[in-house]
Amino acid sequence: MKLLVIGSGGREHALAWKLASSPRVQKVYVAPGNGGTATENGVENVPLSGTKELIDFCKREHIHLTVVGPEAPLSEGVVDAFREAGLKIFGPTRAAAQLESSKDFAKRFMVRHKLPTARHKTFEDAATAKAYIAAERAPIVVKADGLAAGKGVVVAQTKEEANAAIDAMLGERRFGAAGARVVIEEFLPGEEASFIVMSDGKNVLPLATSQDHKRLRDGDEGPNTGGMGAYSPAPLVTPKVHARVMREIIQPAINGMAEEGHPFVGFLYAGLMIDAAGAPRTVEFNCRLGDPETQPILLRLKSDLLDLVEHAIAGTLDQAEAEWDRRCALGVVMAAANYPEEPRKGDRIQGIPAPAEDCRVFHAGTKLSGDTLVTNGGRVLCVTALGDALRIARTRAYEAVDQIRFDGMQFRRDIGHRGLKKK
Ligand code: AMP
Ligand code: GLY
Repeated sequence: MKLLVIGSGGREHALAWKLASSPRVQKVYVAPGNGGTATENGVENVPLSGTKELIDFCKREHIHLTVVGPEAPLSEGVVDAFREAGLKIFGPTRAAAQLESSKDFAKRFMVRHKLPTARHKTFEDAATAKAYIAAERAPIVVKADGLAAGKGVVVAQTKEEANAAIDAMLGERRFGAAGARVVIEEFLPGEEASFIVMSDGKNVLPLATSQDHKRLRDGDEGPNTGGMGAYSPAPLVTPKVHARVMREIIQPAINGMAEEGHPFVGFLYAGLMIDAAGAPRTVEFNCRLGDPETQPILLRLKSDLLDLVEHAIAGTLDQAEAEWDRRCALGVVMAAANYPEEPRKGDRIQGIPAPAEDCRVFHAGTKLSGDTLVTNGGRVLCVTALGDALRIARTRAYEAVDQIRFDGMQFRRDIGHRGLKKK
């Protein structure tokens, strides 16, 4: 059978690679894909983007089912449109995707269903927002309401900084319509983890836990990025914390969405802050898999991902089981010159090692220009490796990283540092 993956990042390369490894799959198309999906076995890029074009393609090619990678098509209603056209697709509807596309929606939902999260208030007027800040304590967090590609969040150390963020969002409209409303919330202390599940709208299958590295530079310094590396599992999420997250956050979220008439079918990603006592709180929801978390997670998945997706679409996820490699996985992102501000494109990439059982290089911002592989976006590659211990996975990943060259490449040397400290 033939499948379609929508998207072009490292997450989508990992999804396409994993789906293509199913014995039942003949071909995985990726729209539009990247330089890695262009050359992956059993995978083929199709240069399509509009929903109508994608629907026509799926009908013409008899695509068995589609998996959506990024949030943008989900929040534009690609799932609603595919379902109306009678096509199978895995992802939340536009209404359900609001858990990510509107922070205000997500916060109110969490309050309605008593999910632990930071106290918050929403504002459209700068003066009222500043009055609220004056009455609160710093650090304090200011967020654009809409999708702002991970850049709409300011963790302000001082009230002055918070007021400046208000001016940028509500005054100068730095994030356009996405920042026409802002959410101001209490600062949560603790350590972050990514908790991603699959849901069929009712049942939940948790994926392996992971931890991302959001800052550009070693030691968690420099600007925020989409993520500079990830590893799985995250030792921070002990079995006890895991049980609490499922009971206090994930199940109530899935039940709440169903009760409100928007059952959440798809990957649900809870960004967690876990405090010193092991109490988890929700920083945000994403309505999709994480990038780069997906790359180490899928490298550890031993089950057939197609089976899991089929169960999720059919509403029978309670009958599915995911089997995980007991090894740890760790992925190092290699980013382009000037990422995250204005990544440079067109640098020639050399030295990518051939895939091995314990190490694969997933592509993100790459493309083939003739026979030459060049950079084509901010995050270029995610070098992902397995090892019997996190330290071994890390050594293996950096061995591969050290073979790869392109002008202006940026990557962190300390991916996994929190996990290593815990051992
Ligand atoms: P978000 O886009 O909501 O995930 O926020 C981006 C990053 O800002 C998160 O990954 C956290 O590191 C940080 N952050 C967001 N909200 C809070 C909060 N309430 N307390 C502490 N840190 C936060
Ligand atoms: N790596 C963070 C995210 O996918 O949102």
